[in-house]
Amino acid sequence: MSDLDAMHARATEVRLRAHAPYSGFKVGACLRSDDGRLFAGCNVENVAYPQGLCAEAGAIAAMVAAGGGRIEEVIIVAEGEPLCTPCGGCRQKLAEFAGPDTPIHVASPQGIRASFTLGGLLPESFRFEKAAP
Ligand code: THU
Repeated sequence: MSDLDAMHARATEVRLRAHAPYSGFKVGACLRSDDGRLFAGCNVENVAYPQGLCAEAGAIAAMVAAGGGRIEEVIIVAEGEPLCTPCGGCRQKLAEFAGPDTPIHVASPQGIRASFTLGGLLPESFRFEKAAP
């Protein structure tokens, strides 16, 4: 099984554990870090709607909690006709740990539907360089 097949399987599996009683829209995400490990996350909604977390945020948090690293590849799994591309906030969160060439795949449980790069999804992303004292 290729890395990407394993990532798709992990994201598809974790998606079923999403807590999405308000939208009814379950999302799973899996990322591969630069040491080859896979980290998965699902969306976790809240009765106070803005407190909900996207699947990508959960996967990023799992990577950081496990020691951190750089993100080399991402897959997001959802159902429905519109492509479940990452929201604006998640694009920025991914950019903290990934480069513009990092592949972002959007999939259904049946397979990959479209592939992007982070730079394509978030061009001219915000950078901050601390001014010299
Ligand atoms: N959602 C994600 O988890 N990831 C995405 O890439 C897009 C949207 C979640 C947030 C919310 O729980 C539900 O999908 C509906 O917007």
